[in-house]
Amino acid sequence: MHEIRHVGDPVLRTPAEPVTDFDKELRRLVDEMFGIMYAADGVGLAGPQIGVPRRVFVYDISNRKGHLINPELIVDDEEQVVEEEGCLSVPSRETGKPLYAPTPRAAGVTVIGVDRLGRPVSVTARGMLARCFQHEFDHLNGKLYVDHLPREERRHVLAATPQP
Ligand code: NI
Repeated sequence: MHEIRHVGDPVLRTPAEPVTDFDKELRRLVDEMFGIMYAADGVGLAGPQIGVPRRVFVYDISNRKGHLINPELIVDDEEQVVEEEGCLSVPSRETGKPLYAPTPRAAGVTVIGVDRLGRPVSVTARGMLARCFQHEFDHLNGKLYVDHLPREERRHVLAATPQP
């Protein structure tokens, strides 16, 4: 059983490797990721967040649910939108709940990848789903939402985590 890793864990800063085996183990991993995400009241979860350095993420937000494997991210609308954003891997050390901060993201994106059976998937998104895709895609490249914050704001958030 995998557990959610928190900022300070090197796996969150390591670019994930492509998935190559579309086997039973992968299908189990995707199921487990949904379970961990729902148990934590999350809306998205990427492999590195549970210590699995593979390019896979799951999401369930704005009535859209799915998973992406080996995704590419295309920015359709570069306009920057600032909304509150948080991450299960960036929790408050006092409450254990995600820490939120206003974070700029592109307004519209398309993700292209495959599903757990290797079938092509393409999803075009705006709003919170577009934000979620950018957030999860970042995880696959060893990035966290705090990287997009002004320095002072980033320091403020990280100071409240378990490993400041
Ligand atoms: Ni996250």
